[in-house]
Amino acid sequence: MSIPSFTLSRQMALLSPAIGDRLTEVMASGQFILGPVVTQFETEIATVIGARHAVGVANGSDALYLALLALGIGPGDEVLTTPFTFFATAGSILRTGAKPVFTDIQLDTFNMDPDIALARVTPRIRAMLPVHLFGLMTDMTALARGYAGPIVEDAAQAIGASLYGHAAGTMGSLGCFSFFPTKNLGAFGDAGLVTSEDGALAAKVRVLRVHGASKKYFHDTLGINSRIDAVQAAILSVKLPYLAEWTKRRIAVAARYTKGLTQLGVSEIVCPITPEGFVHVFHQYTIRASRRDALAAYLKEQGIGTTVYYPLSLHLQPVFKDLGYKAGDFPHSETAQETVLSLPMFPELLDSEVDQVVQAIAAFYGHRA
Ligand SMILES: Cc1ncc(COP(=O)(O)O)c(C=O)c1O
Repeated sequence: MSIPSFTLSRQMALLSPAIGDRLTEVMASGQFILGPVVTQFETEIATVIGARHAVGVANGSDALYLALLALGIGPGDEVLTTPFTFFATAGSILRTGAKPVFTDIQLDTFNMDPDIALARVTPRIRAMLPVHLFGLMTDMTALARGYAGPIVEDAAQAIGASLYGHAAGTMGSLGCFSFFPTKNLGAFGDAGLVTSEDGALAAKVRVLRVHGASKKYFHDTLGINSRIDAVQAAILSVKLPYLAEWTKRRIAVAARYTKGLTQLGVSEIVCPITPEGFVHVFHQYTIRASRRDALAAYLKEQGIGTTVYYPLSLHLQPVFKDLGYKAGDFPHSETAQETVLSLPMFPELLDSEVDQVVQAIAAFYGHRA
């Protein structure tokens, strides 16, 4: 039996009827952008995340851009971020006219190393943009210990994650989420969210998402068109009550992978860790593997899907060449890009499928399975 890296079909079998009913209601309402369905979703998700304010936007990339705009980030400013992430993180900084400044990750968490980050802070750094990669939060406490400026959390992959009880999206000045269909909470297209504990910042994002108009057709500032559709909000509202259960299952799947790989003594790979005090929500279960590409090819032959997130660090991407970085600048990020492999991960994955993946990895490295 083949095992996909990710699939929504098992989840859809469960949710289709309820989603169909909600969509019928939205169709009948005739209100497709913002409106009461969106307002209700914003209230519900703020409660689930534990954030004071939540503003629905068109996608996670816009969430980041709007959060930076709300902080007044623009040309001449620098924003400190990680090179080991999806493009949108640093892309959003460039979009404001500011300059991304990269800082290396910790190899065991794949997140910004707080000690290195704090050493790179200069007066030109106007904000930090850490990413809670793969569902594990960056150590926000360590960052805040040495940096008092604004922090925007890229929590696109980390809904439900926490650090000593503090939820992702509530520790920084603003938090940014993506509801891209493959995320832990996924829409039927693009959708995103900005959270904040600060009412004034949240209000700015609300204005910025409608072309900077605090009153219809009266524009105080330059914003963009970035609203969440009522259809997406309705779908997300149906899915929201399942999120805690799905997260629990992701954590159980991750534990089974780690136990299986450890018990089989597969020393050629390193399993992801969850440091003390953190809740990892395992958007991805990402190992570091020697002979990564050969392993991925072998697993593919066995019908097992895997993905490399991410094959090229941002400081080496052509789009950022004017920033002047070169190979060797961020050794941990570059080691990660050569060795990471994300194994199948979704809540509906069966224990027997996890075991099959573990045994296939063991077989590749020649261990007794
Ligand atoms: C870390 C990270 N940041 C930002 C984004 C951008 O989100 P979206 O695809 O909704 O624009 C994503 C997801 O794709 C992501 O994984």
